[in-house]
Amino acid sequence: MSHESAIIVADQIRTNPKTVLGLATGSTPLGLYNELIKLHNSEGLDFSNVISFNLDEYVGLPKNHPQSYNTFMFKTLFSKINIKQKNVHIPNGSSFNLKECDKYESLIKIYGGIDLQILGIGSDGHIAFNEPSSSLGSRTRLKTLTEKTVNDNARFFDNISNVPKYAVTMGVGTIMEARKILLLASGDSKAKPITKAIEGPISSMCSASAIQMHPKTIVIVDEAAAKNLKEKDYYKWVYRNKTNIN
Ligand code: PGA
Repeated sequence: MSHESAIIVADQIRTNPKTVLGLATGSTPLGLYNELIKLHNSEGLDFSNVISFNLDEYVGLPKNHPQSYNTFMFKTLFSKINIKQKNVHIPNGSSFNLKECDKYESLIKIYGGIDLQILGIGSDGHIAFNEPSSSLGSRTRLKTLTEKTVNDNARFFDNISNVPKYAVTMGVGTIMEARKILLLASGDSKAKPITKAIEGPISSMCSASAIQMHPKTIVIVDEAAAKNLKEKDYYKWVYRNKTNIN
């Protein structure tokens, strides 16, 4: 999953060195980020003109908190490649205000929109922090996390009571405007949400299902996450017979 997705991201950057990348946090993209770092070191994959926008940030944690997504991004990726700090954008969760959400949306537009958006999927089917019942037209805003998400994220905190309950997140509508989307999922815990997202009805109860309406989304999953897909054999058939026709 990580290797395949790194090929796609690297191709995108080589084709357009000024690519606007939408980035995700969590365990899912870690392998992809490691692959990109390897490509940067071994082949000189150049991030110097890449612009990035992250999907979301916890509200209430200072920027430099060990569990903030700002810290996560610098630790796992930005400090290991040659992206310029001025080109990096992460929603500000330390002093949340709605005007800043609108500013974030405007900034994405000023840079011409997101060329390639990386997504993980939550066990409740969320993309970014668009929890079940999030409007499929939603924009960057404050979101209250579900208890399930708080529990899922507790593994990174000493005590569950320290897990933030709010986040500032791009909306489903924001994500859907990306020109290309790359949704990644691995492991048993993602089998249910990935099946809902790909083969279930389009519903705000699984915000990831909005990708069914997106003109250019690639989903990469491992066997465990794919295990409940009804059309699994067909997807493998498509992959084996893939053409270079875009
Ligand atoms: P994970 O989170 O990559 O840590 O599983 C994904 C998500 O919640 O979107």
